[in-house]
Amino acid sequence: MELNISVMISEEEIDKKVRELGARISRDYAGRSVHLIGILRGGAFFMCELAKRITVPVTIDFMSVSSYGSGTVSSGVIKIGKDTDESIEGKDVIVVEDIVDTGRTLSYLLEMLKGRKPASIALCTLLDKPERRTHEVKVDYTGFQVPDKFVVGYGLDYAQKYRNLPYIGVVETEGE
Ligand code: IMP
Ligand code: MG
Repeated sequence: MELNISVMISEEEIDKKVRELGARISRDYAGRSVHLIGILRGGAFFMCELAKRITVPVTIDFMSVSSYGSGTVSSGVIKIGKDTDESIEGKDVIVVEDIVDTGRTLSYLLEMLKGRKPASIALCTLLDKPERRTHEVKVDYTGFQVPDKFVVGYGLDYAQKYRNLPYIGVVETEGE
């Protein structure tokens, strides 16, 4: 079944924002290199576009993580599907994510990565849904804040589909 999807953030708006973020990162890291870690799968689309707009030297890596289902207090652990290929020790790392929702995955991931002794670590997300936050996360670079709606496109999926949309869309539910 094909869903009805309406445009929330256009391709042009995203492109402009990615250029702005790239320029800000290039200024903030002037004289240094940045090591981008894209969070698979959704963050890959954004990371590739962002990397092209950064003018200081860039290296890239990827990780795939998921948080164990909610549930008990002790479940504050993330599952690493794919770890980074390279060590991050001594590097200026920027974790690149598609969306920060509850903040659960990112809060644990950032703590874990800090333990690996990077020179610095920052978080850059294309989208932020602050209304949904249950776990505090410091977001250093945000593309757009979005309302509490399910969004797809530009890497974000609905049942693995729609990642390839060049814009951010909202899945319209019946009655809307
Ligand atoms: P959280 O911040 O730990 O809750 O998890 C964030 C992850 O949930 C993101 O990396 C996405 O993969 C997924 N996610 C959250 N909100 C949406 C959405 O609106 N559309 C698609 N995926 C989402
Ligand atoms: Mg994700």
